[in-house]
Amino acid sequence: MTSPQNASAGSRFPKGARAFPHRDLIGISSLERHEILYLLAEAEQYVAFNRQAAKHSEQLAGLTIINAFFENSTRTLLSFEIAGKRLGADVVNMYAAQSSVKKGETLIDTAVTLNAMRADAIVIRHGSSGAVGLIANHVDCPVLNAGDGQHEHPTQALLDALALRHKLRERGNEAEDFTGLTVTICGDILHSRVARSNVLCLQALGASVRLCAPPALMPVGVERMGAQPFHDFEAALEGADVVMMLRLQNERMDGQYIPSPREYRHLYGLTPERLALAREDAIVMHPGPMNRGVEIDSAVADMATRAIITSQVEMGVAIRMACLDVLTRKARGVVGWGEGEWV
Ligand code: NCD
Repeated sequence: MTSPQNASAGSRFPKGARAFPHRDLIGISSLERHEILYLLAEAEQYVAFNRQAAKHSEQLAGLTIINAFFENSTRTLLSFEIAGKRLGADVVNMYAAQSSVKKGETLIDTAVTLNAMRADAIVIRHGSSGAVGLIANHVDCPVLNAGDGQHEHPTQALLDALALRHKLRERGNEAEDFTGLTVTICGDILHSRVARSNVLCLQALGASVRLCAPPALMPVGVERMGAQPFHDFEAALEGADVVMMLRLQNERMDGQYIPSPREYRHLYGLTPERLALAREDAIVMHPGPMNRGVEIDSAVADMATRAIITSQVEMGVAIRMACLDVLTRKARGVVGWGEGEWV
C-alpha cells in the first residue's frame, strides 16, 4: 500500500445517499451511528498508511487548512497538522496568543478574516462552549471542532473509539461496535468536553457508560444523557471493561473544587489496586495530558498489555486524516459513501 484509497463497505450507508451529509464536524451529537462507523472505517486505511515509512499523499493537494487554536494543545494541534500535511494540503497554524485576538478583535471578525483567505477547512479549538459552532456560521468551508470549552471534542471521541476497537480486535473481538461493554469515565467530568463527546459516541456504539467524579465535579443531569453517575470510584470500577481517566482541568476552575491533589488521588486516583476491581483484562485509556500520580499512577499508565494511551495518540492522526478527507470531498469534487456509491 503506497497511497490511501477511499475504501470501505458501502452496505452500511443509506441507499441513494451521495455524500457525507454534514459540512462541519462540531459535535458527536450531530452524527448518526452509521456516520460514526463510516468515519471509523475510513480511518482504518490511514492507520495502515501511517505505519509505512513513506507517508505522503497528494489527496488534498492545493487545499489550504487553517488550524486556529485559541487554547493550548500538544496532541490535537500536532495531529491535525500532521494529518493535513500527510494528505498533501497546505497547513497553517494560527495561535491566538500571537494573533489579533489579543488586540481585541471579535471572534466573528477573526472568522470573517480566515474565510477571506479562502481556507478549504478550518480546525478550531476555543475556550468557550459554542464558539466553534458560531464561527462555522460565518465561514464558507468545513469547520472541525478541536475542542470548544466544556462542550465537545468530537475527534477525540472518534479516536478513542478507534483505539478501543483496535485493542478489542487484537484480543480477538471482531465486533463492529461496543454492545455489552461497560466503560467507566472518571475525573473532572464537569469541565470535560472529552467526557461529553465520549458519552455520546460510546452510547451510539452500544456501550454502557458510567461517569465518576467528586460531587463538585459532576454536572447535573448526566442521567438524562443516559450515563450512570457515581461518586464512589471503587463502585464505578466494579466489572468495568474499560476505564478512561481524565485530568483535573484547573484552568477551567474558578474556585476550589477539590481539597488538594493528594486528597483527590486518595479517592479518585487509578492505582493498580483499584484497577483490580475492574474486569481482569480491563483496558485503560487517557486522552492526555496525564498528571501522573494524581488521576493515574505510572504503574497503571505504563501497563503494556492494558493501557492504550499511546495508541490513542496514533489513532488521532488517522481519525483526523479521515475527517479532513471526508469533509473536503465536496471541495475536491469527490462525493460518495464508499464502494459502489461513487458518483
Ligand atoms: C483534552 C482536551 O483538550 O480537551 N486533551 C486532548 O485533546 N487530548 C483533555 C484535557 O485537556 O485534559
